[in-house]
Formats: sequence, C-alpha cells, structure tokens
Amino acid sequence: MSTNEEILGRADVNDLEAILSITSKDVTEMVHAVKDNADAIFTWNYEKGERPALNKLYEKAKNAQWNGETDLPWDTVVDLEKVVANAPRDPEADPVFVAATQPGAPLHNWGQKEWDRFIIESQNWTMSQFMHGEQGALVCTAKIVETVPWIDAKYYASTQVMDEARHVEVFAKYLDTKLDGHYPLNAHLGMLRDDIIADSRWDMTYLGMQIMVEGLALAAFGFMHMLTEEPLVKQLFRYVMSDEARHVAFGVLSLKEYYGELTDAEMLERQEFAFEAAVRMRDRFLQQEVWERMGVDVRSMIKLQLEHEVNKNDDPFQQLLFSKIVPNCKKLGLLDRNDGWLRTKFGEMGVIQFEDWVDTGSDYDTLSLENLAKEASSAAGAEVA
Ligand SMILES: [Fe+2]
Ligand SMILES: [Fe+2]
Repeated sequence: MSTNEEILGRADVNDLEAILSITSKDVTEMVHAVKDNADAIFTWNYEKGERPALNKLYEKAKNAQWNGETDLPWDTVVDLEKVVANAPRDPEADPVFVAATQPGAPLHNWGQKEWDRFIIESQNWTMSQFMHGEQGALVCTAKIVETVPWIDAKYYASTQVMDEARHVEVFAKYLDTKLDGHYPLNAHLGMLRDDIIADSRWDMTYLGMQIMVEGLALAAFGFMHMLTEEPLVKQLFRYVMSDEARHVAFGVLSLKEYYGELTDAEMLERQEFAFEAAVRMRDRFLQQEVWERMGVDVRSMIKLQLEHEVNKNDDPFQQLLFSKIVPNCKKLGLLDRNDGWLRTKFGEMGVIQFEDWVDTGSDYDTLSLENLAKEASSAAGAEVA
C-alpha cells in the first residue's frame, strides 16, 4: 500500500507548507498542454443496447438537450449590491471567521466594506472554478469517447461532450456579462485535472471526473441552487444539475460492471486515486486565491482553516460536498475492498458518515428537466386551484 507521501507528495494530509507550495505557475499562459498517455480504442461490436442502463441514459440524453443561449433568462439584470445584501452570512456562526476576526488574526480589521467585497470575490472565484472545471469535464469526456471500449458508452459520452460544452459556455457568459472578475484555475484542481488526463487507463478518467469531480460538483450546484435568490443563476444551476446527475450516473453504471472484475491490487490503485482526488478537492476549497486578492495573510488564514474546518471537522458545508461521492464509492466497492482502506481514509477526512446516503446511479430522473416541467405545471395548477 502506498503512503501519503507517495500518493499526495506529503506525509501529513494537513501539512500547511506543502499545501501552500502548490500554486498556479502558469497563470499567464493562454493554452495548457497535458500529455495524454491513453490509447484511442475502436470497437467493431456495434450492438446497441448491449449495456441497457447506458443505452437508456443515452436515449434520455438525446431528449434532454437545452440551449444555453435561448433557454436561460439572460435579460435578467444582476444587481451585485443586491446579491451582497441577500447573501446568507453570519460570520459569528462560522468558527473559522470567529477565530479569524480576533485581535491579531488575519481578518481582525475587516469591516462591512471588506465583508461585502469578500462576497463578490467569493462568487467570482466560485463561478470561475466551475467554468474551468467544466472545461476539464469537456476534455475528459472527449477522452472517454476515445478510450472506452463499449459502443453504448461511446454513444453516451458523446452526448456528455455536448452537455459540457454548454456548461462551459453558460458559466463563461455569466462571468463575463453579470459578474466583475475572473480567477485562474485553482492549482489543486489543476493538478487533479492533469493527473486524470495523463492516466493511460480508461476507467481512471471516469473515476476522477464522473465520480469525484462531478460528484462534488453535483452537491455544490445543489447548494448554490438552494441558497441563491438571483433568478438567472438559480435556473442556470438547475439546468446544469439536470445534466450532471446523468453524468455521475454514467460513471457509476460504467464502473460498477468493470470494478467487479478487478483484482485487489488493481482496486487498491483506484482507492488511492479516489483518496488523492478527495484531498485535492478539499484543498481547493481553502480558496487561497481569494485571500490573496483580498490582501489577507494567506498563510495564517489557511492555517486557521486547517485547524477548524479540517481538523475539527466543524464545517458541515465542506463535509456535505462529499455527500454524493462517498455513497457512490461504496456502491463501486471502493470503500470496502482491501480491508476498507478508503473507508479508513474517508473516516480520517470526516466524510464517511455519508456512506449510506442515496447513491447517484438513478436519481437523474428526479433532477431531469422533464421532471422540472412537471413540478412547475403542478405548482401552477395548485395556484389556479
Ligand atoms: Fe458539466
Ligand atoms: Fe458533467
């Protein structure tokens, strides 16, 4: 079994210096190249529907396409002052902010102006990371079209490529026309994306992207959709979620079959990769770029976050981001193989409590646009009655 040092490049998961040493080195580059080591696979077995669950997903996807230009209310005026005023915030309820505003702590001199700006910068950062993450999904899914050996999976993945192009498009448009600033890709997320693309094994793309990155995105979009009162972005999140739920299901359904055939040694490599991805994504949410831009002492701020959110597990929001990933890993056998190696790691990360939450193999129907239309018409019916 590999050590943390071998998997993450650091022995202690919460090593402050090691986390801070991962920074974006190429923020000025216009393109970013990653060597893709996988073979492009052709199949001569054109038997459509040999994998009925994937075929069903493909048929659903064909009818669930929407148009990012015309299906969202882009004429909505987004008033950033109102967004700031409506943002849910209660620094006193958040142990990190309570600690960070003590005398001598990094946010001790923050007043209303800084808190307002922080809300705007956090939104710029969050939407920028979503946009870059969506491009990662676009490229990874195009890679799956090439590398997966099953025709039903190639067909389905091709619809996901279109979905992801639409997602990049709508996040980029929202950032450009409704917000007031961009951020480069977070270095931790970039590292994970590069690892996924470089890996030669076709299932690792699914594991890194569909199970880990998109599993977390689905939970994050769900929060944003629930919390925001801005109607355009609320609808944007709801539409994107209808696609993402299918994407995560695609990962679960494809890997379920494949992982049943793998040896313990092969499964261990997948468990270690899932752990690495989980840590990179957790590190990403330390949002060091926002602290930098706000002129805050990044080192002290990240130290506080590690002490509170991470070591004491006292940030339920951060944990809930893993609420889709953990049950999906369980369904794939990743938690329990090799004497529960990943179960132990997720226990240490404070996220194992989600293992029995519903997995995402089938909830794409609940989140579908078809279902959204039904909900809307029954709500309208109730109003008329
Ligand atoms: Fe997406
Ligand atoms: Fe996706």
